[in-house]
Amino acid sequence: MSPFQLTRTLAPDAAGADLRADVLHGFNRSPKELPPKWFYDARGSELFEEITRLPEYYPTRAEREILKERAAEIAAATGARTLVELGSGSSEKTRFLIDALLPGLDSYVPVDVSESALTGAAESLLAARPELRVHALVADFTRGLALPGTPGPRLVAFLGGTIGNLLPGERRTFLRSVRAMLTPGDALLLGTDLVKDEATLVAAYDDAAGVTAAFNKNVLAVIDRELGADFDPDAFEHVAVWDREREWIEMRLRARRALTVKIPELDLVVPFAAGEEMRTEVSAKFRQAGVRAELAEEGLDLERWWTDSEGRFALSLATAR
Ligand code: AVJ
Repeated sequence: MSPFQLTRTLAPDAAGADLRADVLHGFNRSPKELPPKWFYDARGSELFEEITRLPEYYPTRAEREILKERAAEIAAATGARTLVELGSGSSEKTRFLIDALLPGLDSYVPVDVSESALTGAAESLLAARPELRVHALVADFTRGLALPGTPGPRLVAFLGGTIGNLLPGERRTFLRSVRAMLTPGDALLLGTDLVKDEATLVAAYDDAAGVTAAFNKNVLAVIDRELGADFDPDAFEHVAVWDREREWIEMRLRARRALTVKIPELDLVVPFAAGEEMRTEVSAKFRQAGVRAELAEEGLDLERWWTDSEGRFALSLATAR
């Protein structure tokens, strides 16, 4: 059997139907909003990789430091034979974990909505680790996931702080579906960005080079291409604000002037007032007590908590009850 398999659990047009529903729903609300998952077409995924290298964007480097430092402990604590990674993207940081888990590791199961990211990651991973079995899943991990039949113990990794892109209710649903993939004793490795001073947080989402602005506006290009819309990205301004009550960063797109956008595929004409802001992403920041409580609520017990040397980002290891 080939060491690489790819399963699409998304119907070829599931993404299209989902995007239409999200745009229809989000543009009919006030304030308008879009879910952040639509950033990640091939261009958006490239821009995100560029963000991870920006001086202001510390989460990726902080998480890499923890993974590098703690991979052996994670491997010893879990003894995982199957590593499932949700939202795996380039799988770059996961190498530390894979290397620590080998040779006991049987399978790596990266899950992502981006098929291009999955094939690219698997190719470079298999070139370096030919003994590994990779079973990639093109899937939306915010839904229930059917995992391939791989041996336990299982470790599900959800890195990068991506759980922060879900709203509180969505986080509960998500953790419940993760718990459903696990057998008692299996584990979840969860990356969360931590609450810190506002200036550091805002700079991480509004970088001087404007890469995050381009990333944010890319969602308009996605809607133009997929739904035939006529968004002019230059008519919008990138906004990043810290909501200190809810302890999350919000990215928004602000209309520079009054304008209307036609979306032929939806038979829709959408007006924007001058200065109107549309929410495109929430990126929640966490504290240990909150993470522990949210996990416990869904049958996951926090066993270990590690941060980088500057205390900016945390990795949690939780066990299924
Ligand atoms: C997908 C969680 C890693 O919220 O920090 C980066 C996405 N958005 N800059 C985050 C993102 C703007 C990112 N993660």
